[in-house]
Amino acid sequence: MNAIEPDPGSDRPLPDPDQAGSTPLETTLTHRRSRREFGHGPISLADVSQLLWAAQGETHPDGLRTAPSAGATYPLVVRLSVAENGVPDLEPGVYRYWPGAHTLRTETSLPAQAELQRAAYDQEWVGEAPIVVAISGVVERTAREYGPRAGDLYVPMEAGHAGENLHLQAEAVGLATVPVGGFKDEAVASALDLGPERPLIMYPVGQRSSE
Ligand SMILES: Cc1cc2nc3c(=O)[nH]c(=O)nc-3n(C[C@H](O)[C@H](O)[C@H](O)COP(=O)(O)O)c2cc1C
Repeated sequence: MNAIEPDPGSDRPLPDPDQAGSTPLETTLTHRRSRREFGHGPISLADVSQLLWAAQGETHPDGLRTAPSAGATYPLVVRLSVAENGVPDLEPGVYRYWPGAHTLRTETSLPAQAELQRAAYDQEWVGEAPIVVAISGVVERTAREYGPRAGDLYVPMEAGHAGENLHLQAEAVGLATVPVGGFKDEAVASALDLGPERPLIMYPVGQRSSE
């Protein structure tokens, strides 16, 4: 479905996501909170896989995904910034998630946490997080079908759908995260080298603190 899926052979495969789970949805909904304090310790590759799959993983042979998309245009792009020692099995840097192959492709070997914290008006949970998941959108892809309504409503709304999936998944596996929408667009675009993509929301993720 996505014409620009890369050659899967050149990318870092992620472990298969757990598609059954053991936490009831209602329990996850009851306990979901925005959590800005992180405990010590990295994020496992299995949890990285689970979070990215929840946000945009493919769940159907026709390329349909975990989150709905206006006209199945799939404008969202999901990136992962990994701090030094943020994920034991991943080098630090910024990666792009490819939903079809369920793989990561390295974009740069420099983690973006510090720059993203500055872009987000110095919200320290962004800089402290072992991983930050950033969702951006190729608005043009959806605008070809729906015109200005794509940028005004549909693409930001899709980021909310994907982001809530990720937030609930983080809660279900016992991790801490918070949606961060308070940032300077140009500064996030520059930190992640987004080109024409529009930054939409990001999720710093860490271990749950004892609180
Ligand atoms: C679109 C959006 C943007 C948000 N941006 C930020 C943000 O920049 N920084 C932050 O700390 N929390 C942010 N939040 C989280 C809210 O502050 C939080 O959801 C609210 O206080 C309710 O708390 P709860 O999520 O624990 O229920 C954002 C939430 C949404 C939905």
